[in-house]
Amino acid sequence: MPSFNASMIGQHITAVGWVAKRRNFGQLVFIDLRDKTGIVQIVVNEDLAPSIKDVRNEFILSVEGEIVARKEINPNLLTGEIEIIASQITIVSTALTTPMIIADETDALEDTRMQYRYLDLRRPVMQEKLFMRAKIVRAMREYLDDHEFIDVETPMLTKSTPEGSREYLVPSRVHAGEFYALAQSPQIFKQLLMIAGFERYYQVARCFRDEDLRADRQLDFTQVDIEASFMDADEFFVHIEGIMHSIFSKALKQELHTPFRRMSFHEAMDVYGSDKPDLRFKWPLLTLNDVFKNTEFALFSGRNEKQSIKALVVPQGAVYTRKEVDALTALVKKYGAAHLVHFKYTEQTLSGSAVKLMSEEEISALITTCQLQEGDGVFALMGEWEQACTAMGALRLHLGLQHHTFDPHQFEFVWIVDFPMFEADPETGGIIARHHPFTRPQDAYMDSFIEKPFEALANAYDLVCNGYEIAGGSQRIYSSQMQSDVFKLLGFTQEQIETRFGFFVDAFNYGTPPHGGIAFGLDRLVMVLTNASSIRDVIAFPKNASARCPLTSAPSPVSDKQMNELHIAIQSK
Ligand code: AMO
Repeated sequence: MPSFNASMIGQHITAVGWVAKRRNFGQLVFIDLRDKTGIVQIVVNEDLAPSIKDVRNEFILSVEGEIVARKEINPNLLTGEIEIIASQITIVSTALTTPMIIADETDALEDTRMQYRYLDLRRPVMQEKLFMRAKIVRAMREYLDDHEFIDVETPMLTKSTPEGSREYLVPSRVHAGEFYALAQSPQIFKQLLMIAGFERYYQVARCFRDEDLRADRQLDFTQVDIEASFMDADEFFVHIEGIMHSIFSKALKQELHTPFRRMSFHEAMDVYGSDKPDLRFKWPLLTLNDVFKNTEFALFSGRNEKQSIKALVVPQGAVYTRKEVDALTALVKKYGAAHLVHFKYTEQTLSGSAVKLMSEEEISALITTCQLQEGDGVFALMGEWEQACTAMGALRLHLGLQHHTFDPHQFEFVWIVDFPMFEADPETGGIIARHHPFTRPQDAYMDSFIEKPFEALANAYDLVCNGYEIAGGSQRIYSSQMQSDVFKLLGFTQEQIETRFGFFVDAFNYGTPPHGGIAFGLDRLVMVLTNASSIRDVIAFPKNASARCPLTSAPSPVSDKQMNELHIAIQSK
């Protein structure tokens, strides 16, 4: 519709679209006709088509008419200078009253929106997001195609792999009792493509993970998956930054400054309390270990070497009520903290329930360390370093997002590097890979990672933007021996390694190039770049928060015949 403009006044045209609004003014009927590009006003004389007064929203009309200048310009519409005087009208399709209003602003519940997704997607704001998504993918592909990355598809029905997430299993009809796994990512195959000599690969790949859903996660999602041989992390970063440049110039039409800054995992956790810090605002966490070194204050006394006292200064944070502090305490407890201490700094005096248990020295050290200003509030808690940082980071993000308003065009990118290679499994206490088991240790830890796994740093990197991990990758192990060693560290027996990953470890014996890669979470990237509040808003047909598709009602029971064919019986419902 916006292609109709004032330069076309006097021309006869045909417009086809949905009725967005109808208003009757005596003999005249005004219709806002909408298509994917916008809205144009049609003026119809009732004599021309008496049935026009029965036309309702979402009918499809084909209108022939003349473009004329409007008496009153509508500055809110791209076509606001003109209207179309209809000379012929055809009702192409009728429509029932829709269960939700087709407009940018909607009060429809999310499940209603998802049940009638085809209507929800008619809303201009949703169309814009999907058009932007397509532009972003095109810009990424263009960069990769121009830089000799070859697009190769890999199987979705594959073998169970140890990437960390729970997998979806697909029963084989032909092989009773055997299962495919839906690919969590193309990880193993892209590495095999490097062994196969392709050197530069990419794929816009569907991935499947049986995870608990959050605002930035889906069960089936899309990665722009990339791998390259003979390219170290530094060279790799240049390409990823090049891809982001391509997106910013071609899709967002916005300037982007590169190279992106780099931050170690340790700094990200210690200063921002997260391995995906939101750097749109500062609010660094502080460490108060020295302030409370010899304290009598029970919550912070008896600190061992692994523990840390982390604090956050909130400007004007002296105003929080008891009730509000209780709610914030509940938040940090979700992240494993045992308590949260709140201090207020007003009239140059520190107050709060902990203050009477603190010495004068401690009080003045706290004021100096935190560089307190009139009206500030300080939150503090003690716990094992990573847990204390994480809990304080959650508080920083929660309050920071409340306190700041952001320019929708502000995107703060950061590479997070120097991740630990392994971590302890919180459930079993065993060793798990922080990224995935194919990640190579940094050179300095090559010889020691087996003896001291928790000290080893990985050659892994995440790209973070505005508090979201939008891509993650690593340089890979390329020796069969080292890969087996890592599997063993992770608790696999030699027999398990052979039956589950024998094909992979074997492949390393036939001339494996050093290689590495990364995968963008495409949905998450689009969510961040379009300022969407949920990943569901940038996916045409997503699952809801309880992992269902309200449109198709998936998942749903299947017939006994299907179950029998697949050799499956349900034990209990
Ligand atoms: P990783 O598991 O970090 O790495 O995933 C890469 C990126 O994919 C996105 N992502 C998701 N997006 C939506 N819903 C999900 N459930 C979901 N899970 C992950 C994130 C993440 O940064 N094979 C490796 C990549 C590699 O090493 O090259 C991998 O899949 O944005």
